[in-house]
Amino acid sequence: MAIQTIIEPFKIKTIEPLRMTTRAERLGILERAGYNLFGVRAEDVLIDLLTDSGTSAMSARQWAGVLDGDESYAGARSFYRFERVVKELTGFRHIIPTHQGRAAEKILFAIMGGAGKTIPNNSHFDTTRANIEVSGAEAVDLPVKEALTPSLVQDFKGNMDITALERLLKQKGREQVPLVMMTVTNNACAGQPVSMGCIRRVSELCRSYRIPFFIDACRFAENAWFIKTREPGCKGRSVRQLAQEMFSYADGCTMSGKKDGLVNIGGFLALNDDGMAQMARNILIVTEGFPTYGGLAGRDLEAFAQGLEEVLDEDYLRYRIRSVAYVVEKLDHLGVPVFKPAGGHAVYLDAAAFLPHLAVEAFPGQALACALYLEGGIRSCEIGSVMFGRRDPASGVFQPAAMELVRLAIPRRVYTQSHMDYVVECIGGLYARRESVRGVRILQEPPLLRHFTALFEPH
Ligand code: F0G
Repeated sequence: MAIQTIIEPFKIKTIEPLRMTTRAERLGILERAGYNLFGVRAEDVLIDLLTDSGTSAMSARQWAGVLDGDESYAGARSFYRFERVVKELTGFRHIIPTHQGRAAEKILFAIMGGAGKTIPNNSHFDTTRANIEVSGAEAVDLPVKEALTPSLVQDFKGNMDITALERLLKQKGREQVPLVMMTVTNNACAGQPVSMGCIRRVSELCRSYRIPFFIDACRFAENAWFIKTREPGCKGRSVRQLAQEMFSYADGCTMSGKKDGLVNIGGFLALNDDGMAQMARNILIVTEGFPTYGGLAGRDLEAFAQGLEEVLDEDYLRYRIRSVAYVVEKLDHLGVPVFKPAGGHAVYLDAAAFLPHLAVEAFPGQALACALYLEGGIRSCEIGSVMFGRRDPASGVFQPAAMELVRLAIPRRVYTQSHMDYVVECIGGLYARRESVRGVRILQEPPLLRHFTALFEPH
């Protein structure tokens, strides 16, 4: 019989020790951080699942690239390698490096956004939404309705509701909708994939309205793997070919290399339109740097180029997606309410179902994330009403997020299966005592992206 166990297709060359803490220590740490895990020092965290962004372990080849980086201000060899790799992958004409994804977003929406504009997406992630809103435009989420039922198992819950998009385009037209975005995988919706069919249909719709279509490509390789394994007719094609096809339907993309670029810093904006690229580079020079480095060192561009090659390795993607599904299956087996099916980069707990005794105003996601830290030194991230809820400025009425999720993002190539077994045991233990978890209230919050710095206290 063929061997069933899927292993990490790498071995460990360098290690970093983890620091154990006691529950009493963690309680003090949590209080001092205002019950906001973004305020906890990383060395006080045992298993850090706050984000999969910028937390990848780099390969020996990437580190070799770091040493080999060309640090010339203009025209560095490292830039031309990076540009070639990104062009081969995406097919876009203009490749503009930025220090990370949100810098690419800032430039894109500075050009395309503005008051009176509406920018739809399957689901905007927080920085995308914030950059759109800062430009004065409105950010609209159009997820398929299946996306909002965490227990429903379907192949492509990250898709966009195309009927809703058509309605919006008909109503507002190209005067008010400067571009349509699609986030792959759909991070705000549990890392669920978007099908090739959906990308193609959205692209066709955009072309019929002559509206540019952009992909938020942070997790393009994970999305392409799901397409390969789930979409009819795709099994025989390589992940690279499928990724290339995804990009072929778009006019450009924003990318945070901190995810599927397998690097600790880096991003880019890529697009076809010459005039827009000119404007983007003008902004880039003011805010990021010269167009052949854009806020990055030459060494970063080398590591990024290498990471974009490695991430398409199918043994890696098989292990990556399986290792997330492994945790979801174990939690599901314990009866823990977890978003299904497993997404690409993270496990999402359904905090509303986990803590049904807490009202949304008591922020069950934030309460659960804090309780998990207390339980086992595990750091996760609320993706619920702290991140996306708001109070209506006119009526003062609380508008919760669509879902109350807690995300356990799995850094790439960092933790082993026994780390994940420990996480499952902690969550299982907490679930057995879930009635004891108290809600939180906000003591202090900034006007934008409040989840990063707001301070809380237990209810
Ligand atoms: N788009 C998506 C879908 C993202 O998930 C992120 C970052 C960005 C854009 C912005 O990229 O961080 O390089 O500026 N997401 C991280 C996360 C922060 O934890 O999911 P960035």
